[in-house]
Amino acid sequence: MLTIGYCTLEAQVVDITTLDVDAIVNAANTSLLGGGGVDGAIHRAAGRELLRECEMLGGCATGDAKITRGYQLPAKHVIHAVGPVWHGGARGEPERLASCYRRSLELAQQACLSSIAFPAISCGVYRYPPQDAVRIAVTTVIDTLPHACGIERVIFACFDDAMFSRYQAGLTARRDQPPPSKPA
Ligand code: AR6
Repeated sequence: MLTIGYCTLEAQVVDITTLDVDAIVNAANTSLLGGGGVDGAIHRAAGRELLRECEMLGGCATGDAKITRGYQLPAKHVIHAVGPVWHGGARGEPERLASCYRRSLELAQQACLSSIAFPAISCGVYRYPPQDAVRIAVTTVIDTLPHACGIERVIFACFDDAMFSRYQAGLTARRDQPPPSKPA
């Protein structure tokens, strides 16, 4: 666990659909109409009303996010973020992945939410190299927190132990990093 200001960040091996938080983030596609992986699990657990709300949103660009209610999920809201498909890294993938985390926190803050859980966006069907994706997730969330006041709890929901170890390493590395030195 890592504390940044008033916010704690932690990794958990957990099915994100079971988390009782203000918002869970979905790794969606540009249609926002559901799919496989975590997207399919979220739609199944939330029920058809979620799809009905998503149908009214007009899709979502890669790197952006949109918010809905959580319906039958324990989470009050779902933030649908669209990660990039990995094509080798030179087609804006890192910037778009970082943007998913920034936009999700921005929407959470605008909705006055305090707890949010992220899956490893783009690390499944979209084939983003997990080590790089985790570094971007941890760095972007930490760097965005000062602009997202009110967020008190961030959970990185991991589907397996290998992903959990990557997040643990990322959070520990950040905790052990010396504070930036003051300018002379
Ligand atoms: N809880 C937590 N993590 C999960 C869960 C779960 N219930 N299920 C899967 N994961 P993916 P993407 C992990 O493929 O790569 C969909 O069809 C999974 O192990 O869900 O962004 C969408 O509609 C992996 O680490 O998302 C899009 O078309 C991570 O979540 C496309 O897949 C993300 O895997 C998005 O692909």
